[in-house]
Amino acid sequence: MSTVWDPSLYLAFDDDRARPFHDLLARIAATTPRRVVDLGCGPGNLTEVLRTHWPGALVSALDSSAEMVAAARERGVDAEQADVTRWTPPPDADVVVTNAVLQWVPRHLDLLPKWLRAMPSGAWFAMQVPANFAAPSHTLPRDLAPAVPALGAAVASPAEYADVLAGVAAHVDVWETTYLHQLTGEDPVLRWVSSTALRPVRDALPEADYATFRAELARRLRAAYPARSDGTTWFPFRRVFAVART
Ligand SMILES: C[S@@+](CC[C@H](N)C(=O)[O-])C[C@H]1O[C@@H](n2cnc3c(N)ncnc32)[C@H](O)[C@@H]1O
Repeated sequence: MSTVWDPSLYLAFDDDRARPFHDLLARIAATTPRRVVDLGCGPGNLTEVLRTHWPGALVSALDSSAEMVAAARERGVDAEQADVTRWTPPPDADVVVTNAVLQWVPRHLDLLPKWLRAMPSGAWFAMQVPANFAAPSHTLPRDLAPAVPALGAAVASPAEYADVLAGVAAHVDVWETTYLHQLTGEDPVLRWVSSTALRPVRDALPEADYATFRAELARRLRAAYPARSDGTTWFPFRRVFAVART
């Protein structure tokens, strides 16, 4: 993406955002991979989890955002700035993980067979994408800014990922989960989407228009996700996972 990511804003919900990553990791049964690659590593906090999980592996990462790569490098992650659409697996890539990235990559279904065919036999590919695009957190911004195209991110259905991966992998494991996040503070859903789904709107609109957009969106999100009497807010969030073994 050419838009600017804010690593600290993205990390504001790090526990909730990390949960799917751990659930994905739990389904990768690699024991002693030579190299583990984190595609779209973001600020690198989850790449660190990969290093701890496979201490004997070379763990490398890439991300298209200069800000995210800088944040990851600060943690000591071997990260480079690159676009996943131009990436080719190195011959020792025994594990490739891409968490909450491919929703930003149009036609990413076409990339999966290319990557898996280039990976060594017995390697693991694991991906997770948010799939909340039919929920108010994503339909309301679309209603208010219909001209901003990147909001309608195109993730496929679990069956579509399974079909594509089954054509090139020996074993495929696909599932979906709806997490019920318990958020705290004022306008928590607005804050959640601000660091991710709203980035294209913020980039597209002049500052004053973006402020108007946010104010109206805040009002509608409060109605869609009402605060409970204890001050917390339930935020259901659907995600799709796919793990394949070559
Ligand atoms: C929602 S963050 C996820 C970061 C990390 N994987 C995690 O789970 O916390 C999405 C990341 O994907 C990166 N990204 C988006 N499109 C990309 C592309 N075409 N190539 C590489 N990275 C990309 C963004 O820069 C951002 O850091």
